[in-house]
Amino acid sequence: MDKNILITGGAGFIGSHVVRLFVQKYPNYRIVNLDSLTYAGNLKNITDIENAPNYHFVKCDIREKAALKEIFIKEAITDVIHLAAESHVDRSISGPMDFITTNIVGTANLLDVARSTWKGDHHIFYHISTDEVFGSLGSEGFFTETTAYDPRSPYSASKASSDHLVSAFGHTYGLPIKMSNCSNNYGSHQFPEKLIPLMINNIKNNQPLPVYGTGANVRDWLWVEDHARAIDTIFHKGKIGESYNVGGWNEWTNLDLVQLLCKIMDQKLGRPEGTSEKLITYVKDRAGHDMRYAIDATKIKNELKWEPTLQFEEGLTKTIDWYLANATWVNEITSGAYQTYYREHYS
Ligand code: NAD
Ligand code: DAU
Repeated sequence: MDKNILITGGAGFIGSHVVRLFVQKYPNYRIVNLDSLTYAGNLKNITDIENAPNYHFVKCDIREKAALKEIFIKEAITDVIHLAAESHVDRSISGPMDFITTNIVGTANLLDVARSTWKGDHHIFYHISTDEVFGSLGSEGFFTETTAYDPRSPYSASKASSDHLVSAFGHTYGLPIKMSNCSNNYGSHQFPEKLIPLMINNIKNNQPLPVYGTGANVRDWLWVEDHARAIDTIFHKGKIGESYNVGGWNEWTNLDLVQLLCKIMDQKLGRPEGTSEKLITYVKDRAGHDMRYAIDATKIKNELKWEPTLQFEEGLTKTIDWYLANATWVNEITSGAYQTYYREHYS
Protein backbone atom coordinates (compact mmCIF):
# COMPACT_ATOMS: atom_id res chain seq x y z
CA MET A 1 0.00 0.00 0.00
CA ASP A 2 1.29 3.49 -0.88
CA LYS A 3 -0.41 5.16 2.07
CA ASN A 4 -2.42 4.19 5.15
CA ILE A 5 -4.91 7.05 5.44
CA LEU A 6 -6.92 7.60 8.61
CA ILE A 7 -10.24 9.25 7.72
CA THR A 8 -12.07 10.35 10.88
CA GLY A 9 -15.85 10.75 10.88
CA GLY A 10 -16.21 8.46 7.87
CA ALA A 11 -19.60 7.14 9.01
CA GLY A 12 -21.10 10.63 8.93
CA PHE A 13 -22.59 12.56 6.04
CA ILE A 14 -19.57 14.11 4.30
CA GLY A 15 -17.12 11.54 5.67
CA SER A 16 -19.00 8.63 4.08
CA HIS A 17 -18.75 10.30 0.66
CA VAL A 18 -15.02 10.95 1.17
CA VAL A 19 -14.35 7.37 2.32
CA ARG A 20 -16.25 5.98 -0.69
CA LEU A 21 -14.34 8.20 -3.14
CA PHE A 22 -10.93 7.26 -1.71
CA VAL A 23 -11.66 3.51 -1.38
CA GLN A 24 -12.95 3.28 -4.95
CA LYS A 25 -10.50 5.64 -6.65
CA TYR A 26 -7.29 4.61 -4.87
CA PRO A 27 -7.00 0.81 -4.54
CA ASN A 28 -3.31 1.37 -3.66
CA TYR A 29 -4.27 3.27 -0.47
CA ARG A 30 -5.49 1.53 2.66
CA ILE A 31 -8.35 3.56 4.16
CA VAL A 32 -8.91 3.30 7.90
CA ASN A 33 -12.28 4.84 8.79
CA LEU A 34 -12.29 5.91 12.44
CA ASP A 35 -15.64 6.91 13.93
CA SER A 36 -17.25 6.69 17.37
CA LEU A 37 -20.73 6.27 15.81
CA THR A 38 -22.60 9.07 17.58
CA TYR A 39 -26.25 9.68 16.67
CA ALA A 40 -24.89 11.17 13.40
CA GLY A 41 -22.63 8.25 12.49
CA ASN A 42 -24.19 5.34 10.60
CA LEU A 43 -22.36 2.36 9.11
CA LYS A 44 -25.32 1.90 6.75
CA ASN A 45 -23.99 4.98 4.91
CA ILE A 46 -21.10 2.88 3.57
CA THR A 47 -22.38 -0.70 3.18
CA ASP A 48 -21.41 -0.63 -0.53
CA ILE A 49 -17.69 -0.47 0.28
CA GLU A 50 -17.49 -2.25 3.64
CA ASN A 51 -15.99 -5.40 2.11
CA ALA A 52 -13.43 -3.65 -0.12
CA PRO A 53 -9.93 -5.10 0.46
CA ASN A 54 -8.41 -1.63 1.05
CA TYR A 55 -11.03 -0.59 3.65
CA HIS A 56 -11.11 -1.05 7.40
CA PHE A 57 -13.45 0.40 10.04
CA VAL A 58 -12.43 1.06 13.61
CA LYS A 59 -14.78 2.31 16.31
CA CYS A 60 -12.95 4.88 18.41
CA ASP A 61 -13.65 8.21 20.09
CA ILE A 62 -11.12 10.92 19.19
CA ARG A 63 -11.34 12.10 22.80
CA GLU A 64 -9.51 8.89 23.81
CA LYS A 65 -5.89 9.81 23.12
CA ALA A 66 -4.31 6.52 24.20
CA ALA A 67 -6.64 4.56 21.91
CA LEU A 68 -5.81 6.90 19.02
CA LYS A 69 -2.10 6.38 19.55
CA GLU A 70 -2.52 2.58 19.49
CA ILE A 71 -4.44 2.79 16.19
CA PHE A 72 -1.81 5.08 14.66
CA ILE A 73 0.92 2.59 15.47
CA LYS A 74 -1.00 -0.62 14.72
CA GLU A 75 -2.28 0.65 11.35
CA ALA A 76 1.00 2.47 10.52
CA ILE A 77 -1.01 5.60 9.67
CA THR A 78 0.79 7.84 7.17
CA ASP A 79 -1.87 10.54 6.63
CA VAL A 80 -5.00 11.95 8.27
CA ILE A 81 -8.13 13.45 6.74
CA HIS A 82 -10.01 14.75 9.77
CA LEU A 83 -13.78 15.14 9.51
CA ALA A 84 -15.03 13.79 12.86
CA ALA A 85 -16.93 16.51 14.69
CA GLU A 86 -20.14 17.49 16.35
CA SER A 87 -21.63 19.38 13.41
CA HIS A 88 -25.11 20.74 14.17
CA VAL A 89 -25.33 24.40 15.21
CA ASP A 90 -28.68 24.06 17.03
CA ARG A 91 -27.35 21.21 19.18
CA SER A 92 -24.30 23.35 20.03
CA ILE A 93 -26.66 26.02 21.37
CA SER A 94 -28.63 23.61 23.59
CA GLY A 95 -25.52 21.65 24.70
CA PRO A 96 -22.08 23.09 23.89
CA MET A 97 -19.83 20.74 25.89
CA ASP A 98 -19.70 17.83 23.40
CA PHE A 99 -18.64 20.36 20.76
CA ILE A 100 -15.80 21.56 22.94
CA THR A 101 -14.55 18.11 23.90
CA THR A 102 -14.85 16.50 20.45
CA ASN A 103 -14.06 19.41 18.15
CA ILE A 104 -11.30 21.02 20.20
CA VAL A 105 -9.83 18.36 22.51
CA GLY A 106 -10.39 15.55 19.98
CA THR A 107 -8.58 17.52 17.26
CA ALA A 108 -5.75 18.35 19.67
CA ASN A 109 -5.42 14.63 20.51
CA LEU A 110 -5.12 13.71 16.83
CA LEU A 111 -2.56 16.46 16.20
CA ASP A 112 -0.46 15.46 19.17
CA VAL A 113 -0.52 11.77 18.27
CA ALA A 114 0.49 12.61 14.67
CA ARG A 115 3.26 14.93 15.92
CA SER A 116 4.72 12.35 18.26
CA THR A 117 4.38 9.38 15.88
CA TRP A 118 5.38 10.67 12.46
CA LYS A 119 8.98 11.03 11.36
CA GLY A 120 10.05 12.63 8.07
CA ASP A 121 8.12 14.84 5.68
CA HIS A 122 6.02 12.40 3.66
CA HIS A 123 2.85 12.86 5.76
CA ILE A 124 -0.27 15.03 5.48
CA PHE A 125 -2.61 16.09 8.28
CA TYR A 126 -5.64 17.52 6.47
CA HIS A 127 -8.28 19.22 8.61
CA ILE A 128 -11.81 19.78 7.26
CA SER A 129 -13.47 22.95 8.51
CA THR A 130 -16.33 25.30 7.87
CA ASP A 131 -17.05 28.80 6.52
CA GLU A 132 -18.87 29.52 9.81
CA VAL A 133 -15.52 30.37 11.45
CA PHE A 134 -15.54 33.66 9.49
CA GLY A 135 -18.74 34.92 11.14
CA SER A 136 -21.66 36.54 9.37
CA LEU A 137 -21.78 38.70 6.22
CA GLY A 138 -24.14 41.53 5.32
CA SER A 139 -25.68 41.62 1.86
CA GLU A 140 -22.30 42.26 0.17
CA GLY A 141 -18.92 40.52 0.07
CA PHE A 142 -17.45 37.03 0.36
CA PHE A 143 -15.26 35.06 2.76
CA THR A 144 -11.72 34.59 1.42
CA GLU A 145 -8.83 32.62 2.94
CA THR A 146 -7.59 35.83 4.60
CA THR A 147 -10.89 36.90 6.17
CA ALA A 148 -10.44 37.36 9.94
CA TYR A 149 -12.02 34.69 12.12
CA ASP A 150 -15.18 35.81 13.96
CA PRO A 151 -17.04 32.67 15.14
CA ARG A 152 -20.38 33.36 16.79
CA SER A 153 -21.94 30.02 17.83
CA PRO A 154 -20.50 27.37 20.16
CA TYR A 155 -20.16 25.14 17.06
CA SER A 156 -18.26 27.69 14.99
CA ALA A 157 -16.12 28.73 17.98
CA SER A 158 -15.16 25.08 18.52
CA LYS A 159 -14.28 24.67 14.83
CA ALA A 160 -12.31 27.96 14.86
CA SER A 161 -10.37 26.71 17.90
CA SER A 162 -9.57 23.46 16.10
CA ASP A 163 -8.43 25.40 12.99
CA HIS A 164 -6.10 27.52 15.15
CA LEU A 165 -4.65 24.39 16.78
CA VAL A 166 -4.02 22.84 13.36
CA SER A 167 -2.21 26.00 12.15
CA ALA A 168 -0.27 26.21 15.42
CA PHE A 169 0.96 22.60 15.11
CA GLY A 170 2.07 23.43 11.56
CA HIS A 171 3.96 26.56 12.61
CA THR A 172 5.38 25.30 15.88
CA TYR A 173 6.25 21.68 15.17
CA GLY A 174 6.43 21.71 11.38
CA LEU A 175 3.54 19.24 11.20
CA PRO A 176 2.61 19.03 7.48
CA ILE A 177 -0.92 20.42 7.68
CA LYS A 178 -3.56 21.43 5.14
CA MET A 179 -7.00 22.84 5.79
CA SER A 180 -10.20 23.73 3.96
CA ASN A 181 -13.26 25.75 4.96
CA CYS A 182 -16.42 24.79 3.12
CA SER A 183 -19.95 26.16 2.79
CA ASN A 184 -23.21 24.24 3.40
CA ASN A 185 -23.25 20.75 1.90
CA TYR A 186 -26.31 18.87 0.68
CA GLY A 187 -26.84 15.44 -0.85
CA SER A 188 -27.58 11.83 0.10
CA HIS A 189 -27.05 10.40 3.62
CA GLN A 190 -27.38 13.74 5.46
CA PHE A 191 -28.94 13.41 8.91
CA PRO A 192 -32.43 14.95 8.80
CA GLU A 193 -31.73 17.54 11.50
CA LYS A 194 -30.14 19.75 8.80
CA LEU A 195 -32.34 22.09 6.73
CA ILE A 196 -32.62 20.25 3.39
CA PRO A 197 -33.23 16.63 4.53
CA LEU A 198 -35.47 17.84 7.37
CA MET A 199 -37.65 19.74 4.90
CA ILE A 200 -37.72 16.83 2.41
CA ASN A 201 -38.84 14.46 5.18
CA ASN A 202 -41.49 16.85 6.49
CA ILE A 203 -42.85 17.66 3.03
CA LYS A 204 -43.15 13.93 2.33
CA ASN A 205 -45.01 13.38 5.62
CA ASN A 206 -47.20 16.50 5.33
CA GLN A 207 -45.65 17.96 8.48
CA PRO A 208 -45.07 21.69 9.20
CA LEU A 209 -41.92 23.16 7.58
CA PRO A 210 -40.22 25.14 10.39
CA VAL A 211 -38.50 28.22 8.91
CA TYR A 212 -36.47 30.17 11.48
CA GLY A 213 -37.28 33.90 11.80
CA THR A 214 -38.35 35.37 8.45
CA GLY A 215 -36.43 32.89 6.27
CA ALA A 216 -34.19 35.72 4.97
CA ASN A 217 -30.89 34.16 6.10
CA VAL A 218 -28.62 33.18 3.23
CA ARG A 219 -26.48 30.07 2.80
CA ASP A 220 -24.17 28.99 -0.07
CA TRP A 221 -24.97 25.38 -1.01
CA LEU A 222 -22.56 22.80 -2.44
CA TRP A 223 -23.27 19.21 -3.52
CA VAL A 224 -21.51 16.87 -1.11
CA GLU A 225 -19.85 14.87 -3.92
CA ASP A 226 -18.29 18.09 -5.22
CA HIS A 227 -16.95 18.71 -1.70
CA ALA A 228 -15.52 15.17 -1.63
CA ARG A 229 -13.80 15.89 -4.98
CA ALA A 230 -12.41 19.12 -3.53
CA ILE A 231 -11.02 17.18 -0.55
CA ASP A 232 -9.38 14.69 -2.94
CA THR A 233 -7.89 17.60 -4.93
CA ILE A 234 -6.57 19.45 -1.87
CA PHE A 235 -5.19 16.27 -0.31
CA HIS A 236 -3.22 15.47 -3.48
CA LYS A 237 -2.41 18.90 -4.94
CA GLY A 238 -2.84 21.49 -2.17
CA LYS A 239 0.26 23.10 -0.67
CA ILE A 240 1.42 22.15 2.81
CA GLY A 241 0.58 24.88 5.33
CA GLU A 242 -2.19 26.38 3.16
CA SER A 243 -5.94 26.66 3.59
CA TYR A 244 -8.51 26.65 0.80
CA ASN A 245 -12.08 27.97 0.75
CA VAL A 246 -14.58 25.62 -0.92
CA GLY A 247 -18.04 26.78 -1.98
CA GLY A 248 -20.75 26.50 -4.60
CA TRP A 249 -21.19 30.12 -5.75
CA ASN A 250 -24.80 29.26 -5.00
CA GLU A 251 -26.53 31.55 -2.51
CA TRP A 252 -30.14 31.04 -1.47
CA THR A 253 -32.35 32.55 1.20
CA ASN A 254 -33.78 29.78 3.37
CA LEU A 255 -37.31 30.71 2.33
CA ASP A 256 -36.56 30.58 -1.42
CA LEU A 257 -34.84 27.25 -0.93
CA VAL A 258 -37.74 25.72 1.01
CA GLN A 259 -40.16 26.99 -1.64
CA LEU A 260 -38.05 25.38 -4.38
CA LEU A 261 -38.04 22.08 -2.48
CA CYS A 262 -41.84 22.31 -2.15
CA LYS A 263 -42.19 22.90 -5.90
CA ILE A 264 -39.97 19.96 -6.91
CA MET A 265 -41.61 17.64 -4.38
CA ASP A 266 -45.16 18.57 -5.39
CA GLN A 267 -44.20 17.45 -8.92
CA LYS A 268 -42.53 14.23 -7.69
CA LEU A 269 -45.39 13.31 -5.35
CA GLY A 270 -48.10 14.20 -7.86
CA ARG A 271 -49.55 16.92 -5.63
CA PRO A 272 -51.18 20.06 -7.11
CA GLU A 273 -48.69 22.96 -7.35
CA GLY A 274 -48.66 25.05 -4.15
CA THR A 275 -49.78 22.19 -1.85
CA SER A 276 -46.55 21.77 0.15
CA GLU A 277 -45.84 25.51 0.45
CA LYS A 278 -48.89 25.75 2.70
CA LEU A 279 -46.92 23.70 5.26
CA ILE A 280 -44.34 26.52 5.75
CA THR A 281 -44.47 27.68 9.38
CA TYR A 282 -42.36 30.55 10.72
CA VAL A 283 -40.86 29.56 14.07
CA LYS A 284 -38.68 31.19 16.73
CA ASP A 285 -35.32 32.23 15.28
CA ARG A 286 -32.05 30.44 16.12
CA ALA A 287 -30.17 32.32 18.89
CA GLY A 288 -27.40 34.46 17.35
CA HIS A 289 -28.45 33.30 13.86
CA ASP A 290 -25.73 34.26 11.33
CA MET A 291 -27.32 36.23 8.49
CA ARG A 292 -25.30 35.30 5.42
CA TYR A 293 -22.43 33.03 4.43
CA ALA A 294 -20.80 33.27 1.00
CA ILE A 295 -17.53 31.71 -0.08
CA ASP A 296 -15.07 33.14 -2.58
CA ALA A 297 -13.69 29.93 -4.10
CA THR A 298 -11.27 31.64 -6.50
CA LYS A 299 -8.07 30.30 -4.94
CA ILE A 300 -8.99 26.62 -5.30
CA LYS A 301 -10.21 27.28 -8.85
CA ASN A 302 -7.08 29.12 -9.97
CA GLU A 303 -4.45 27.09 -8.10
CA LEU A 304 -5.94 23.58 -8.07
CA LYS A 305 -8.45 23.71 -10.97
CA TRP A 306 -11.40 22.59 -8.83
CA GLU A 307 -14.90 23.87 -9.52
CA PRO A 308 -18.38 22.68 -8.52
CA THR A 309 -19.95 20.49 -11.22
CA LEU A 310 -23.62 20.20 -10.41
CA GLN A 311 -26.32 22.79 -11.03
CA PHE A 312 -28.43 23.26 -7.85
CA GLU A 313 -31.87 22.24 -9.12
CA GLU A 314 -30.37 19.05 -10.57
CA GLY A 315 -28.57 18.36 -7.27
CA LEU A 316 -31.74 18.91 -5.24
CA THR A 317 -33.68 16.59 -7.55
CA LYS A 318 -31.04 13.85 -7.14
CA THR A 319 -31.12 14.40 -3.36
CA ILE A 320 -34.92 14.23 -3.15
CA ASP A 321 -34.89 11.07 -5.30
CA TRP A 322 -32.37 9.49 -2.92
CA TYR A 323 -34.47 10.28 0.19
CA LEU A 324 -37.67 9.01 -1.45
CA ALA A 325 -35.93 5.77 -2.53
CA ASN A 326 -34.35 5.21 0.90
CA ALA A 327 -37.34 5.40 3.23
CA THR A 328 -35.96 2.61 5.44
CA TRP A 329 -32.70 4.54 6.06
CA VAL A 330 -34.75 7.63 6.96
CA ASN A 331 -37.27 5.76 9.13
CA GLU A 332 -34.55 3.99 11.13
CA ILE A 333 -32.84 7.23 12.12
CA THR A 334 -35.96 9.34 12.64
CA SER A 335 -37.50 6.96 15.17
CA GLY A 336 -36.42 6.91 18.82
CA ALA A 337 -34.01 9.63 19.93
CA TYR A 338 -34.72 11.81 16.87
CA GLN A 339 -38.36 12.15 17.94
CA THR A 340 -37.30 13.41 21.38
CA TYR A 341 -34.80 15.85 19.82
CA TYR A 342 -37.42 17.09 17.37
CA ARG A 343 -40.10 17.57 20.04
CA GLU A 344 -37.76 19.40 22.40
CA HIS A 345 -36.25 21.61 19.69
CA TYR A 346 -39.37 22.56 17.75
CA SER A 347 -42.06 22.62 20.46
P1 NAD B 1 -21.90 14.61 10.65
O1 NAD B 1 -22.44 15.10 11.94
O2 NAD B 1 -22.83 14.07 9.62
O3 NAD B 1 -20.81 13.45 10.92
C1 NAD B 1 -19.86 13.56 11.93
C2 NAD B 1 -19.22 12.20 12.15
O4 NAD B 1 -18.24 12.32 13.18
C3 NAD B 1 -20.22 11.12 12.62
O5 NAD B 1 -20.02 9.93 11.91
C4 NAD B 1 -19.90 10.94 14.09
O6 NAD B 1 -20.17 9.64 14.56
C5 NAD B 1 -18.41 11.26 14.11
N1 NAD B 1 -17.97 11.73 15.43
C6 NAD B 1 -18.53 12.70 16.20
N2 NAD B 1 -17.88 12.82 17.36
C7 NAD B 1 -16.86 11.91 17.33
C8 NAD B 1 -15.82 11.57 18.23
N3 NAD B 1 -15.70 12.15 19.44
N4 NAD B 1 -14.94 10.60 17.87
C9 NAD B 1 -15.05 9.98 16.66
N5 NAD B 1 -16.03 10.26 15.78
C10 NAD B 1 -16.92 11.21 16.11
O7 NAD B 1 -21.03 15.81 10.08
P2 NAD B 1 -20.78 16.27 8.56
O8 NAD B 1 -21.85 17.20 8.18
O9 NAD B 1 -20.50 15.09 7.73
O10 NAD B 1 -19.45 17.13 8.76
C11 NAD B 1 -18.17 16.52 8.68
C12 NAD B 1 -17.10 17.57 8.88
O11 NAD B 1 -17.22 18.59 7.89
C13 NAD B 1 -17.19 18.29 10.23
O12 NAD B 1 -15.89 18.53 10.69
C14 NAD B 1 -17.88 19.61 9.89
O13 NAD B 1 -17.51 20.61 10.79
C15 NAD B 1 -17.36 19.86 8.50
N6 NAD B 1 -18.24 20.66 7.62
C16 NAD B 1 -19.55 20.30 7.44
C17 NAD B 1 -20.33 21.03 6.54
C18 NAD B 1 -21.77 20.67 6.28
O14 NAD B 1 -22.46 21.40 5.55
N7 NAD B 1 -22.31 19.58 6.80
C19 NAD B 1 -19.79 22.13 5.85
C20 NAD B 1 -18.43 22.45 6.08
C21 NAD B 1 -17.67 21.70 6.96
O1 DAU C 1 -21.78 26.59 6.51
C1 DAU C 1 -21.31 25.31 6.81
C2 DAU C 1 -22.12 24.73 7.94
O2 DAU C 1 -23.39 24.41 7.40
C3 DAU C 1 -21.47 23.49 8.56
O3 DAU C 1 -20.26 23.85 9.15
C4 DAU C 1 -22.40 22.87 9.62
O4 DAU C 1 -21.84 21.67 10.11
C5 DAU C 1 -23.73 22.57 8.96
O5 DAU C 1 -24.64 22.07 9.93
C6 DAU C 1 -24.31 23.82 8.30
O6 DAU C 1 -24.71 24.79 9.31
P1 DAU C 1 -26.06 25.64 9.16
O7 DAU C 1 -26.47 26.10 10.48
O8 DAU C 1 -25.93 26.66 8.08
O9 DAU C 1 -27.04 24.47 8.59
P2 DAU C 1 -28.53 24.05 8.97
O10 DAU C 1 -28.95 23.02 7.99
O11 DAU C 1 -28.69 23.75 10.41
O12 DAU C 1 -29.35 25.38 8.68
C7 DAU C 1 -29.31 26.02 7.41
C8 DAU C 1 -30.14 27.30 7.50
O13 DAU C 1 -31.52 26.93 7.67
C9 DAU C 1 -29.79 28.16 8.70
O14 DAU C 1 -29.91 29.53 8.33
C10 DAU C 1 -30.86 27.82 9.73
C11 DAU C 1 -32.07 27.47 8.88
N1 DAU C 1 -33.00 26.45 9.43
C12 DAU C 1 -32.45 25.27 9.84
C13 DAU C 1 -33.27 24.29 10.37
C14 DAU C 1 -32.69 22.98 10.86
C15 DAU C 1 -34.35 26.69 9.49
O15 DAU C 1 -34.84 27.76 9.06
N2 DAU C 1 -35.15 25.70 9.99
C16 DAU C 1 -34.67 24.52 10.46
O16 DAU C 1 -35.48 23.69 10.94
